[in-house]
Amino acid sequence: MVRAGQLAAFPTETVYGLGCDAFNTYALARVFEVKKRPRFDPLIVHIASLDAMERLVDFSRLSAGMEYRLSVLSHALWPGPLTLILPKLRTVPDLATAGLETVAVRFPAHDGALKLIAESTGAIAAPSANPFGYLSPTRAEHVREQLGDAVDVILDGGPADIGIESTVLDISSVAPRILRPGGTPRNVIESLTGPLTAEAPDGKISSPGQLKSHYAPSKELYLHTAAEMCRLEFCPDAAYLFFNQASFKTFAENNGLPSEPSDGGGRFFILSPSGSLTEAASSLFDTLHTIDALPVSLIHAEHPPKEGLGDAINDRLSRAAARLENIRMDC
Ligand code: TXA
Ligand code: MG
Repeated sequence: MVRAGQLAAFPTETVYGLGCDAFNTYALARVFEVKKRPRFDPLIVHIASLDAMERLVDFSRLSAGMEYRLSVLSHALWPGPLTLILPKLRTVPDLATAGLETVAVRFPAHDGALKLIAESTGAIAAPSANPFGYLSPTRAEHVREQLGDAVDVILDGGPADIGIESTVLDISSVAPRILRPGGTPRNVIESLTGPLTAEAPDGKISSPGQLKSHYAPSKELYLHTAAEMCRLEFCPDAAYLFFNQASFKTFAENNGLPSEPSDGGGRFFILSPSGSLTEAASSLFDTLHTIDALPVSLIHAEHPPKEGLGDAINDRLSRAAARLENIRMDC
């Protein structure tokens, strides 16, 4: 089906993708239509072998330093949740890269995804399989609910392992930098490349995943530090997303509530009872999907620690909350 230009939603270790042949412009246009994604937002091209880069990357435009970083990162971290931005060959359709001089390349660590890529066309362009701006899908059911019949086939690989998108790292210029924090933490990359440039120059958006409001549920989401979260007054019209058991316990004590989240009428959620950032990342979107379907009008969420995978979780939560101008603290 992919060879024939159809669209396949498929599992990866991060989130589900909505894939098509990266070289079929008709199929690429359909991906943008189905997702209602603006054409200025480029797609990631997924590969299943290092050799496949030869059809995508213009190696003549890589400096020695860039080539070295590509070699070190691809050998150490691929397959895995890391997307590399590289100079593209002219033959890569402009639709896939939104007319940029660069292409995003990812080698996913998921047997089903690799099989699909290798046995179809060797290069599958795929954004996350959600309507633009909404929560990313971590299960086949999420794709079915959000995109349904608009997709030609949905491959069900069960819940995604990592649950948060790949880290997007730009190594196409002299100073490499992270454009989107994700499943590969900054410190893991820096241990191989040395220090990365901190931020995009003058706050300019160079990757639409950096749009302020993105990855958002349909409910209003308010973000709090752990200390603020514990001091909130319980409101029956809200759902509460805690980072760990300790935060929930303090909140429950302060409000005279039962100490088990399950006794709270389905309003209390804990990303990782033991406080593991890996577990928290893997349950983030899944939990937000569940909360979004509840009959509540707002969500209170706690910032996880800002280290390792916490960077990516905090990034997604901040964007989910970003469209709110006024933080209401009454409820
Ligand atoms: O984990 C993932 O990366 C998932 C799975 C399906 O692989 N894919 C994913 O794709 O999250 P998407 O389209 O939702 O996000 C791709 C991000 C966007 O923020 C896009 O702007 C950025 O990568 N991107 C793609 N090509 C780029 C380029 N040439 N330069 C800068 N950013 C780029
Ligand atoms: Mg996405």
